[in-house]
Amino acid sequence: MPTPSDSASRPITIFDTTLRDGEQSPGASMNLAEKMEIAHALVELGVDVIEAGFPISSSGDFDAVSAIAKEVRGAAICGLARCRDADIDRAWEAVSHAEQPRIHVFLATSAIHREHKLKMSKDDIVKRAVAGVKRAVGYCPNVEFSPEDAVRTETDFLCQVVEQAIAAGATTVNIPDTVGYATPAQMNNVIRILRNRVPNIDKAVISVHCHNDLGMAVANSLVAVEAGAGQVECTINGIGERAGNCSLEEIVMALRTRSDYYHAHTRINTRRLVPTSRLVAGITGIHVQRNKAIVGQNAFAHEAGIHQDGMLKNPTTYEIMRPEDVGFTRSELVLGKHSGRAALADRIQALGYSLNNEQIQRVFNDFKDLADKKKEVYDEDIAVLVEQQMHTFEERWSLVSYDVRSGTGRTPEISLTLREGDREVTTTRQCGDGPVDAVLLALEELTGVTVDCKDFGVHSVTVGQDAQGEVAVQVEYDGRLYRGRGVSTDSLEASALAFLNAINRILALGNGKRNEEKEASRRL
Ligand code: KIV
Ligand code: ZN
Repeated sequence: MPTPSDSASRPITIFDTTLRDGEQSPGASMNLAEKMEIAHALVELGVDVIEAGFPISSSGDFDAVSAIAKEVRGAAICGLARCRDADIDRAWEAVSHAEQPRIHVFLATSAIHREHKLKMSKDDIVKRAVAGVKRAVGYCPNVEFSPEDAVRTETDFLCQVVEQAIAAGATTVNIPDTVGYATPAQMNNVIRILRNRVPNIDKAVISVHCHNDLGMAVANSLVAVEAGAGQVECTINGIGERAGNCSLEEIVMALRTRSDYYHAHTRINTRRLVPTSRLVAGITGIHVQRNKAIVGQNAFAHEAGIHQDGMLKNPTTYEIMRPEDVGFTRSELVLGKHSGRAALADRIQALGYSLNNEQIQRVFNDFKDLADKKKEVYDEDIAVLVEQQMHTFEERWSLVSYDVRSGTGRTPEISLTLREGDREVTTTRQCGDGPVDAVLLALEELTGVTVDCKDFGVHSVTVGQDAQGEVAVQVEYDGRLYRGRGVSTDSLEASALAFLNAINRILALGNGKRNEEKEASRRL
């Protein structure tokens, strides 16, 4: 069996599936402009392959994959397809304009999936997989095959399917732990068995795709690399179906920090990790927990006195990575109302964002408003202002003003004004269980969109009494989930902005039609 060289560092291909598996996180649907922005950020980050979507699943997915394939250069653009002619044709149609197109075909192989989902025999599975790979190879030489639920597939059968897929022309064979069931020792063993027993395994790159249901996605991906895998599939912030996927920032920094052990490297510009994480969190509304490894707000915060003492004497006592290496800025500079446009532009750049002059001016205007309300403007405040400017979509309604009077034991009185184009509309009424409810009821009345609030969360962007509050909501409309986000030093205003953002999203996505299409096709 060929073994990975101990002395030379092996290149590991980073396959990012934030826009496909990541988008499968509940409530994380993104519009085309948002996906495009993330795709460009992924190229800047240095990923090798971007899985941009599942083109047959909806017209929205198809449009996003083709737009990304046409516009984004510097990474392979991949489209997902089941082993069905229509899926593969549609995937090719979407990725064909890419600089380096890739088609990713998948078919479940485990007994559970064969018997209960597909109702197909082992022979049928092999035939379907081979036919799928051959059809994809007819379109482009860069073809990836995934035996879905590989980890729960009988080992001999897995080897047989992988061998046949490679013989049919697959250049990457991906081993998914679809349900996050594997243990590290088992994953390591599966990859070793494939390398030992599949005679043509050296004709393809072995990839790994781990889900995080037992919290082991990164560990399982690392042992796969140790056993010889040459590609890791991952997502920014680890978002994805259910408990998510292997987190890109964690696997990349583990490989880099422990290169002495793994003897492997990636092309990732690690200084872009934090800005990309912030961008994806802002767009998807899925917050990064404070103690999340690498990109969490506390990832480099030392609280214990003994640790602080050690850090002052020598940072390497308690720090295995430097914050600046992952894109955190060690800034002592706090901006305030007397800071100028140049100082702000400088901070924006240091935070890893590249904005044009017009965008900087808009952020500067918002910064001045904010600096009037709070004394010190921190990096996190600036990041929020920048993100608000960067991923705007056509917001039909905007908040002009509101006034709520409420108190214990009384129904709130609200007056709220919205703008739509040139016209302003106002409602004044007594309603709701409390001020937030009253705001939502008023918004529903004026926009004509009635939603069911499923989740409401407030967190402070920075520390201090005058900190900005960030409200994230999830609402249900027509059986689908939509998210909204609002930031203000006034948390009630932030709530109004978040609900309005969700309502505008519903209106912009054509009343959830795109999601319905997507769900219908997933049920196939
Ligand atoms: O988890 C999984 O099995 C997948 C495949 C489509 C690769 O996402
Ligand atoms: Zn997956």
